[in-house]
Amino acid sequence: MPTSPGWTPGCLRLALISDTANNTRSITVVAVGPGDGDMLTLKGREALLNADLVLGFTTVLNVVRPWLDKAEVCPMTYRDQEEVLEYAEGQVRQGKRCVVCCWGDLNVSARELLARVRRRADTVRLVPGISSVQVAMARTGISLEDAVFITLHKRADTGGDLDEPVHYINEGRRHVIMLPRPFDLMPAGIAAGLLEAGVRDDLPVRVYQRLTLDDEQRWQGTLRECSAIEDDFSDLSIMVFLSGDTPVQFPLPPEEG
Ligand SMILES: C[S@@+](CC[C@H](N)C(=O)[O-])C[C@H]1O[C@@H](n2cnc3c(N)ncnc32)[C@H](O)[C@@H]1O
Repeated sequence: MPTSPGWTPGCLRLALISDTANNTRSITVVAVGPGDGDMLTLKGREALLNADLVLGFTTVLNVVRPWLDKAEVCPMTYRDQEEVLEYAEGQVRQGKRCVVCCWGDLNVSARELLARVRRRADTVRLVPGISSVQVAMARTGISLEDAVFITLHKRADTGGDLDEPVHYINEGRRHVIMLPRPFDLMPAGIAAGLLEAGVRDDLPVRVYQRLTLDDEQRWQGTLRECSAIEDDFSDLSIMVFLSGDTPVQFPLPPEEG
C-alpha cells in the first residue's frame, strides 16, 4: 500500500493497535470541561460510560457523576495520586478499561497529571475538553489569536513570576489571559505586583470566578482598582488583561451560556 513518509493509513493503524492491544497498558484521559457537566463532550461521555475504572480528584469526579453508573470510582488527592494510579495500572494490566478525568481541557495547565498517567501506561488516549480559558475568552469577546496565555500554577522560581506578564502587557499587542496561583498569588496581589513593576494603572482588567458554575462571578475595572480588592478569591479564578489594540465588548456582555 503506497503511503507518504510519516503517515500511517487508518486501516494499518487499526491493525497495529489490535495486534498489540493485549500486551499494552492503555489509559484514556478525559477532560471534563470547566465545571458545568453539560460541557462534557460526547466523546468524553462515551469513554466514561464504557469505563470499568474512573479516576480523578473529587471535584472533577463530581462533574461527571451522572455518567459513572457502572464504573468503579477512584477519587484521588494530591497526596495519594501515585498510589491510586498504581492501583489503576494493576487493573489495566488485568484488562480493565481505565479513564482518568482532568478539569477543563487537558492541554491547559494539566501537564503534571498527564506526565503521571504517561508513566503508568504504554498508550494514552487523550479526549480534549472545553477549557475555562475558552469560556473566559467567550465572556470577554476575544480570540485566542489575539491573546497570550500564562499560568502561574506550579512555577519553581517564584521570584520572576510576573516577568512574562509584564513583558506582554507592556508590549500591548495581545491580551494576556492568566491563571493565578491559589492562594499565594491571587488577582489583587498580582495586580499590585504588576503596578510595582511599572504597568500602567488604568489597564482594563477582568476577573472571572467559578465560570459556568451556578455561582459564577465576573468583575471588571482597572489594574489599580483590582489591586485594592479585599475580598477572597475562589481557587477557580482567571484574569484577563486587555490590550489597547483589539476591539472588545465593553462593558461586560450580557450573561449567557
Ligand atoms: C490547574 S489549572 C487547570 C486548568 C484546566 N485544565 C482548564 O482547562 O480550565 C486550574 C486553574 O484553572 C482555572 N480555572 C479552572 N476552571 C475554572 C473556572 N470554572 N472558572 C475560573 N477559573 C477556572 C483557575 O485558575 C484554576 O486555578
